[in-house]
Amino acid sequence: MAKFTISKLDQMKTDGDKFVCITAYDATFARLVSEAGAESILVGDSLGNVLQGHDSTVPVTIEAMAYHTECVARGEPNSLIIADMPFMSYATPKDTLKNAAKLMQAGAQMVKLEGGTWLSDSISQLVERGIPVCAHLGLTPQYVNAFGGYRVQGRTPKEAKSILADAVEIQDAGAGLLVLECVPEELATDITNKLDIPVIGIGAGPGTDAQVLVMHDLLGLNPRPAKFVANFMEGQSTVQGALKAFVDAVKSGDFPREEHCYH
Ligand code: KIV
Ligand code: NA
Repeated sequence: MAKFTISKLDQMKTDGDKFVCITAYDATFARLVSEAGAESILVGDSLGNVLQGHDSTVPVTIEAMAYHTECVARGEPNSLIIADMPFMSYATPKDTLKNAAKLMQAGAQMVKLEGGTWLSDSISQLVERGIPVCAHLGLTPQYVNAFGGYRVQGRTPKEAKSILADAVEIQDAGAGLLVLECVPEELATDITNKLDIPVIGIGAGPGTDAQVLVMHDLLGLNPRPAKFVANFMEGQSTVQGALKAFVDAVKSGDFPREEHCYH
């Protein structure tokens, strides 16, 4: 199986084929995600929660992200490796270039940043220098202290308009993918249809081009799962079976269901 590339994901959007992203933080799980058929792996800063035990992603450092990206890359997955830039590692375009380089040299094929129009310069500078960018809008967990908690974004017409405007601008700046987290299904579908780049949803309904979940959530290991999470370990006897069940459910349109959506 050949390595998945961004152009392959673009082609899947054009063809209307759903693709899958699963988080992984080490070599073993990177291999399992790849073997399950997920086109992309996210080395998420969610590792701050699920590996390090923090109650947010704010404490995660660039050194931790580079370390886990190296671990994932050593698993030699066929999946495209996307690595999160952690809190404050992309506050200025200069910091962004320096820190993104660390993740690319650790084995990432793309970096992910949370935020909208204010990131345009950073995104175009990264792309000009050969670093593909995935943007992240909606509920951006690094903003938890600004949001005052984890809640659905884009519920008012004003918020929805601003997320759509951000999405268009970051695409124009050169972003190659967009993650939309915890937004009403209608907004996510509208943005997906308006953008040329593939949109990966989490808590964003079935209308996006792809779905992502944190691995620990889809394996039923989170004692307080969000509404948009399903436990794919149910009915399975192995982790491999659960990962494959998630991949199959996304591709067949069986996940997410109505009970996982916001309106
Ligand atoms: O860190 C992460 O796992 C993420 C996904 C939930 C999109 O950013
Ligand atoms: Na993240």
